Order: sequence, then structure tokens, then C-alpha cells
Amino acid sequence: MVKINTCIFISGKGTNLKKLILNSNKYNFPIKIKLIVCSNKKAEGLKLAKKWSIPFLIFQDNQNLTEKKILVKLKNYKIDLILLAGYMRILSKRFILSFGKSIINIHPSLLPKFKGLNTFEKVLNRKERKTGCTVHFVTEKLDEGKIILKKFFYIEKNDNVASLKKKTQNLEYNAFSEAIIKLTR
Ligand code: GAR
Repeated sequence: MVKINTCIFISGKGTNLKKLILNSNKYNFPIKIKLIVCSNKKAEGLKLAKKWSIPFLIFQDNQNLTEKKILVKLKNYKIDLILLAGYMRILSKRFILSFGKSIINIHPSLLPKFKGLNTFEKVLNRKERKTGCTVHFVTEKLDEGKIILKKFFYIEKNDNVASLKKKTQNLEYNAFSEAIIKLTR
């Protein structure tokens, strides 16, 4: 099958990245990961790029300059899709418009609830009955683009930040891949 040339942006551990790499290696999964962009040179996720010999780009400097460099690389690698998998920086409006193709993010809450950071603390403070994750298109407004899909679970009495994070991330792995398949059908 013809696979979509994809770039994955990360900042941390890369557990979502790992699942995406494993799936992309399967014959029928519709993306090929050509490049990884990382905003943190100490990110554990970079080990995955090395392990699977995927080219990567690390940056920590000036956002404006960096985005220009990334756009050049995206063109060189003929990237048609960007996936934000735990990317903890906000892309500029100029970057989003210049890329001009789909950028998709995974967020650890049931959007439009709890945009931004510290979602699990917010979920507990608001005594929500359920939480989960959302896969959505990226626009210049933080965590506001069109929703592709959500997955949820009910919160237990003894859940805390760590347990919510674990449960949410377990949902994320399939949610991200399902969303990609849904989009490329
Ligand atoms: C994921 O849980 C993702 O939802 C979250 O960062 C984590 C990255 O984990 N993203 C955001 O909070 C974006 N606002 P990972 O590096 O192990 O995949």
C-alpha cells in the first residue's frame, strides 16, 4: 500500500511514538515515519529514533529560526502529515499555515474540557466522572481543532494523578492509530 510520509514531533518519553513506530512497520498501516522532531535533547523518545534508525532533528533554540529549519526538512523528506505525540511546545500560526497539510495532536483529556497542561490535576479537582483522550487537528488555537475521535473511561474512587495518567495513556496508544486509519480511509 502507498503510505503517507509522516513526521512525528515529541518532547518526552515517547510511549505514543513507540506504538506508532510498531504499527507503521505493519504492512497495512497507512503511514511511514520518515522523520522525528524533538524539542528536548534529553528526551527518552530519542532512543526509539536511534533504535529504529529514523532520522531525527533536535532543537531547543529560538522558535522562529527553528520552525524555519523544520519546514525545510519537512519539504526535503516530502512530509504530508505531522503527528504531535507528546509535543510540549505550541506551534506558531505561521508554521501551521506554511506547512499547509494536516497536523494532528493527541491530548490527555476529553476536549473541549481541560485544554493545556496539568489535565489530570484539573480532572480530579473538578470531580469529573470520566476522562480520557482526544485526537484532533491542530489549529493556531491551543487544543481547539476539529476532533477526530475520543476515548474515555470512568474514574474510580481511589484514582490519583499517576493512575489517571496510566489509564489515559493506555487508551491513547490505540486512539492515535485508530484516528490515523479513520482519516486515511
Ligand atoms: C501523552 O499522554 C500526551 O497525551 C501528552 O503528553 C504525553 C506524552 O507521552 N500530550 C500533551 O499533554 C499535549 N498537550 P509520551 O511521550 O509517553 O508519548
